[in-house]
Amino acid sequence: MKRLGIIGGSGFLEFEGLEVQARREDETRWGMPSGPVLEGVLEGGRVAFLHRHGTPSRIPPHCINYRANIRALASAGCDRIVAVAAVGGIRADLLPGSLVVPDQIVDYTWGRQHTFFEDDLDAPRHIDFTVPYDSALCSALLRSAGSAGIAVTGEGTYACTQGPRLESAAEVDRLERDGCDIVGMTGMPEAALAREAGIAYAHLAIVVNAAAGRAPGPIRVEAMADVLAASTGKVRQIIRGVIALEA
Ligand code: HPA
Repeated sequence: MKRLGIIGGSGFLEFEGLEVQARREDETRWGMPSGPVLEGVLEGGRVAFLHRHGTPSRIPPHCINYRANIRALASAGCDRIVAVAAVGGIRADLLPGSLVVPDQIVDYTWGRQHTFFEDDLDAPRHIDFTVPYDSALCSALLRSAGSAGIAVTGEGTYACTQGPRLESAAEVDRLERDGCDIVGMTGMPEAALAREAGIAYAHLAIVVNAAAGRAPGPIRVEAMADVLAASTGKVRQIIRGVIALEA
């Protein structure tokens, strides 16, 4: 039987209520994942949880072994992944505390190990990435949020920057001209690797700050944790609802 994979981002170190049955720390063909994969049951469904930044949280976005993380979740039997991550809001209506299920990606990262298709190949391999997120899983997130009365924006383009620094105001201006609505540092190559591995993938993004130059003054990094803490209950409820919808 297949599992729902949940990748937790900053401030999302564990999944409260997950009945953990196994804790796996196996090395993959691509190295060690960020931390243990917690396999268990949530809302009667099979789930595997992995914290993207490690436990305790220590791995910055550009140093995450995204290949090992996706491979470890595939080995746990995951056929779909909901990835939770903090982002900055570029679009004026995406204020701190907003939740977004983006439907497009622009990748600005560089130098990350971003593909499984690099050796042992008979021929070059390519994935279709026209629609980078799995539409059915995105719809399930939106339906779950809707039935819980939680407001979620269901369209938006996610810009993935390299980090770990935040952007300059001019860089955010460029992202906006490129059509991006939110900006984070961890969505790529995660989404593309999931596609390469044949795993349905959707993103649940929590806006924790106005992106650089979108609010007066500097970005207060300490304030992000407060927004995250205030949002994780809603995120958990939406994910629980996705599992309940499938039951
Ligand atoms: N930029 C990039 N990544 C982020 C931001 C941001 O403003 N906020 C949270 N993650």
